[in-house]
Amino acid sequence: RPVLLEEIQEADLALLKNIFDLEKLSGEAMGEDALSYLNGGADDLKTVRANHEAYGNIQIRPRRLVDVRNISTKIELFGKELDNPIILCPVGFQKVFHPDGEIASAKAAVNRNHQMIVSSVSNFSVNEIAKESGADLWFQLYPTSDRAITKKLLDRAMAAGCKVCFLTVDTPVLGNRENHGTNLAKMIESGEIEMGNFRDILPEGMGINDPGMTWEMIGWLRENCDMKIVLKGIVTREDARLAVQHNVDGIVVSNHGGRQLESNRATIDCLPEVAEEVNGAFPVLIDGGIRRGTDIFKALALGASAVCIGRPFCWGLGALGQQGVELALEILKTELIRDMQLAGTPSVSDITSNYVLRS
Ligand code: FNR
Repeated sequence: RPVLLEEIQEADLALLKNIFDLEKLSGEAMGEDALSYLNGGADDLKTVRANHEAYGNIQIRPRRLVDVRNISTKIELFGKELDNPIILCPVGFQKVFHPDGEIASAKAAVNRNHQMIVSSVSNFSVNEIAKESGADLWFQLYPTSDRAITKKLLDRAMAAGCKVCFLTVDTPVLGNRENHGTNLAKMIESGEIEMGNFRDILPEGMGINDPGMTWEMIGWLRENCDMKIVLKGIVTREDARLAVQHNVDGIVVSNHGGRQLESNRATIDCLPEVAEEVNGAFPVLIDGGIRRGTDIFKALALGASAVCIGRPFCWGLGALGQQGVELALEILKTELIRDMQLAGTPSVSDITSNYVLRS
């Protein structure tokens, strides 16, 4: 049962100083099953851990005597001005964490001026989320092996106002998640939760992945939707080069939060080769293991235009619903602003590779 905010004493709330405190609280609030769905990953969770730990191998080189009274976290991304570079990752089945699911997350994103990406496998449909929250959403696509169904899914996202489509490319099949506690299939079967976007269009037994998908998909997407196309899950120079050749609109350097291939390569270690190869052709984003303002700072310095966060806002959601998501976002943005002040970088564009060093 989620903890209600009213049940938490002011003093306890003040104790929630960082994302790790929120993680702890969510552990107490959510059931074991929900928690292992959220925190789980592939094989032995080495990649899950590596994603965050790798930030510890990067140091910041701050500059002094810079006027940092006014800090701007604003960026422009995919034709839109954003208040800050901290974006909510697509995370499926958010009702597992809290009954208000994606609607609570979207309302928090609106209140706190963050961009949110809705998963193909959200419990509420992208249309319901947009309507209930008033959010201007972006959409993440899991293609089935049937393009007619994928087309319907894209139409639903566009009808809900989505202008950017994140095609997840690291999931031809599901990763080996031995710790996937929550029996999602059972919850879906019992009607407790549903995949809102697939309502009435997914035949029984059909999966949401397409192991046959290749680079040909980009051309098909161009013909079948007018959203910008961003590839989520690129981690190598070679694929970055192909992405440039296929004229996509962006890339997210991602290993799905360590839930797909247990590769032990942290996303922040993949970012430099990808950013170098893309060489400004389009924005490069990153996700995985971002838990601190300094992590965000380092990612921006190493070539990311923005970062996406997954588990951190879900810990907030599981612990406290919408207010918990808002708290997670507030913590990260506050930390980022302070770190920008301490490093002497008043705006996001000031944060360059000169400000970091890898040991
Ligand atoms: C995910 N992720 C994900 N990605 C995606 O493209 N579609 C999806 O439906 C989901 N669902 C999902 C559920 C849960 C519970 C988690 C934790 C993650 C991956 C997500 O978008 C992102 O890549 C990672 O979560 C980033 O890592 P951190 O921030 O969680 O460490």
